[in-house]
Amino acid sequence: MTNALFAFMHHVAAFALVTTLAFELVLMRDTLTLSSARKLMVVDMIYGISAGVVLVIGFARVVYYEKGATYYFHSVPFIAKLSLFALIGLVSIYPTLEFLSWRKILKQDRIPTPSLSKVKLIRTIIHLELTGVVLILLCAALMARGIGTFG
Ligand code: HEM
Repeated sequence: MTNALFAFMHHVAAFALVTTLAFELVLMRDTLTLSSARKLMVVDMIYGISAGVVLVIGFARVVYYEKGATYYFHSVPFIAKLSLFALIGLVSIYPTLEFLSWRKILKQDRIPTPSLSKVKLIRTIIHLELTGVVLILLCAALMARGIGTFG
């Protein structure tokens, strides 16, 4: 029962993460407004929380609730999945820092004015993150079925 609960929480957090990324992309599509900039800050915070939950629950499943840590650390798709997750985390630092830098401006009810190139870069990063998640899903399906396990 507990492993089903952890599997459920893992999926909910992963879906929340994808939803926040898609939402960020939509909010970054048009010219920023006070409302969209504020939403971006909140959505990015939810993204961070979802990523944290995915990671903690994921590790709990690795160690306690599924096939055991030895199995996963001998699985190429698991190692690839973890590496992709770390990469996504790394590239997401840039948008997060940008959104956080708007805090002061938004408190003064002013609209942030990031350059067009910055906006483009952030949109590219979010696209890359979403692509990474698709690859993670492939890795998840392979690792769960013992494909690419060694030793
Ligand atoms: C955005 C990130 C992630 C997504 C979208 C994701 C998605 C998934 C999906 C869809 C499954 C079910 C696979 C299946 O049964 O076919 C799964 C299983 C699992 N995930 Fe993740 N995951 C993510 C991150 C992580 C991380 C960071 C860890 C570990 C630290 C992790 C550990 C696990 C484990 C242990 C399973 C169970 C596999 C099994 O049944 O043997 N996941 N994940």
